[in-house]
Amino acid sequence: MDDMVVYLNGEFIPYSEAKIGIEDRGYQFGDGIYEVIRVYDGKPFALREHFERLTVSAREIELTLPDVSALERDALELLRRNDAKDCAIYIQISRGVTPRKHVIPFGLAPTVIMTAREAARYAPEVRFKGVKAITLPDDRWARCYIKSTNLLPNITAKLRAERAGAYEAVYLRDGFVTEGTHSNVFIAESGVLITPPLTNYILAGVTRTYVLDVARALGVPTREESISAERLAAAGEIMFTGTLTEIMPAVVLNGAPVGQGQPGPVFHRLYPKYLAVATGQESF
Ligand code: PDD
Repeated sequence: MDDMVVYLNGEFIPYSEAKIGIEDRGYQFGDGIYEVIRVYDGKPFALREHFERLTVSAREIELTLPDVSALERDALELLRRNDAKDCAIYIQISRGVTPRKHVIPFGLAPTVIMTAREAARYAPEVRFKGVKAITLPDDRWARCYIKSTNLLPNITAKLRAERAGAYEAVYLRDGFVTEGTHSNVFIAESGVLITPPLTNYILAGVTRTYVLDVARALGVPTREESISAERLAAAGEIMFTGTLTEIMPAVVLNGAPVGQGQPGPVFHRLYPKYLAVATGQESF
């Protein structure tokens, strides 16, 4: 896909021609924000919500965004130019290119890139078998609601998870679940779906909101409540949610089976409806 068309600062150009200055602050400081949007059969899912969150992230790091409705249109144009059907749009906005110094120069133009890459889909066998998870201490900063490109803690935690043969790590802060390294976390207890409430320590996942709405539409009771490490370990079901993850059941936690050791009834109820909503086949 390296002949794909990418978006760089208002232009649609071939991948091989897209170049960014070596002093880009995204590269030097992780001074940037991003979004990932899933596209099903050419139709972006929850485009508006992702751009709303991008606006929040920009505001929180005091970055002046280019016109968001123009960016939305450009994202659609990128799909058209690549004839992209099942893919993920990646949008990254960094502070811009300037000689390295901590202070942010006034009026610096941000660097805006977008790609539309084929989305890695999980084989149904993987999802319906379920995955392994571990817990790790949440050693990130206190502003995890910002979707920052500065993902060092997340990628090193994901590496540790992978080394342990796990798909994802559940972050624990002071003994309570925050989220995953690249997903939000849900549990089910006796048919009730539970996820931690939104705080500054959690990304407000777009999928998280849809999963809560799907559950309500199906009559599955939901609660936003703190989940202790002990409660997590005793849960009948554990699920991760995210744009590319969709809903992924965990069947092993720290080497011990979750519930019956297979994806549970709440997952089986939620997932088909979530997919139908995400792909635009059904609404609520
Ligand atoms: N990650 N929490 C974290 C830390 C995440 O990185 C993500 C998504 C989520 C789920 O958010 P959403 O449902 O809006 O995708 C929660 C993206 C997909 C990534 O970094 O690739």
